Amino acid sequence: MSGPYAGRQDEAGNVNPQIFDEQAEESKGEMARLTSFVGAIAISELVKTTLGPKGMDKILKSADPNEQKITVTNDGATILKSVYVDNAAAKILIDISKTQDDEVGDGTTTVAVLGGELLREAEQLVIAKIHPQIIIQGWRLAKEAARKTLLDIAMDHSQDEAVFRKDLESIAGTTLSSKLLVQEKEHFVNLAVDAVLRLKGSDDLKLIQIIKKAGGNLKDSFLADGFILEKKIASKSPKVKITPRILVANTPMDYDKIKIFGSKVKVDSIDKVAEIEAAEREKMKRKVDKILAHKPSIFINRQLIYDYPESLMAEQGVMVIEHADFDGVERLSSVLGADILSTFDTPESAKLGTCELVDEIMIGEDKVIRFQGCHEGRASTIVLRGASTHILDEAERSLHDALCVLIQTIKNSKVVYGGGNTEVRMAEATDELARQIPGKKSLAIEAYGRALRKLPMIVADNGGFDSAEIISQLRAEIHNGNTTAGIDIGRGCVGNMEDLGIKECLRVKEQALLAASEAAEMILRVDEIVKAAPRRREGY
Ligand SMILES: *[C@@H]1O[C@H](CO)[C@@H](O)[C@H](O)[C@H]1NC(C)=O
Repeated sequence: MSGPYAGRQDEAGNVNPQIFDEQAEESKGEMARLTSFVGAIAISELVKTTLGPKGMDKILKSADPNEQKITVTNDGATILKSVYVDNAAAKILIDISKTQDDEVGDGTTTVAVLGGELLREAEQLVIAKIHPQIIIQGWRLAKEAARKTLLDIAMDHSQDEAVFRKDLESIAGTTLSSKLLVQEKEHFVNLAVDAVLRLKGSDDLKLIQIIKKAGGNLKDSFLADGFILEKKIASKSPKVKITPRILVANTPMDYDKIKIFGSKVKVDSIDKVAEIEAAEREKMKRKVDKILAHKPSIFINRQLIYDYPESLMAEQGVMVIEHADFDGVERLSSVLGADILSTFDTPESAKLGTCELVDEIMIGEDKVIRFQGCHEGRASTIVLRGASTHILDEAERSLHDALCVLIQTIKNSKVVYGGGNTEVRMAEATDELARQIPGKKSLAIEAYGRALRKLPMIVADNGGFDSAEIISQLRAEIHNGNTTAGIDIGRGCVGNMEDLGIKECLRVKEQALLAASEAAEMILRVDEIVKAAPRRREGY
């Protein structure tokens, strides 16, 4: 049978009409759900081993044989961004995990793993003939109970500056300890906390610039006041300026040579060339004069500046910096409080920037330009040093996560204990709830608690410890009212999270809980996957 009336026989032998185009595919009910479970659980398995302070790294290598670049990382977001999947559920889980990364900057792995564990539990419930809608209802109740617990146990020390700084250090430490920088942790904790406190409550991550300079080792990384531009000052210019007027521009300054594209200029003598050249120079000079009318002491251009205008400006004692990249110019203008100018007709209304000192410094072998004491005092630069680009890249990713989490904490200021403390306490609450709810829903609520407890279990497993033993001890401690107990991953036993300084940002935890639940629910709700046929062009 073929053509539009072709159909499939179901179990009873009835032929169902095929309503989809031949190139479309559909899979239904159990089959669709199974495919979804498999896909989502596979994603969770993929990142599971990177969870926690003792998580393992992964090497990411492009499938394209021409691309040589490899990445060594244990950052969940980076891993998930680089896998290509052809499973709809896996894609949903990846997308929601990525949203976590965009929203709060960390906790991506937690979302993927918790989402996967929830679906693993759901698989068992579905096999036990519990309808997905019942599971979802149970999960929703469980999620609310867990969330309430989370909010109840959160601590807020923002009133006491010293204690709050300790909180921030603990949080930065917890984030960084799961990344590459274990040995250099303390150094980086201080870098990150100092940089974020300098923001004075702003959540503009752009004000913290990260520069990577290969060479030296990670401990040589430092926080510099102000802004660093990886460019050289033009050779004829003065090299130091104190409280300068800084003009930031984006304008062509490179036509002191004849450069007329796409048009033929017919000249009959060498004199003519000289004539045109002279005219061009004259035009350039007028432009320079216009710029100089702004009385800048530093002129920074995004584009190239040729010799002639450069010397004209240098003669007037102006420091010239050319070819600053786009990112550099954008940041400079906001940090220095300058507009980016491209026309120079109204010197009176143009906004020039300023700072206390501009000079050249050496980082490793390279000269860079430093802008100190900027108009925007919250700006700072973290200069990362390290033996290789792999180390620098991973250090940057870790630092970025830590900065994001710190910014979230400053905004929200509530913290919770790490080391599995919150997960076990949330699971306690859902267990309690399950006892009160009659019917099959309670099975789903119990399952939710089990999935929550899996997180600290995986963390302990990744540390090479007997996770079942540790988690049952931890459950006992918490059940007996010990609110500071958690996994001491250094010693492989239950420890005191307050003494060990292991804290996490409430906002990140909460967001991860909600995102993972949402992803799992969305995937569980699927009972049909339709692969749409590719759209054909008209006329076929
Ligand atoms: C809680 O447990 C930890 C680790 O076992 C222990 O160090 C701490 O003293 C306990 N706290 C209380 C109040 O029992």
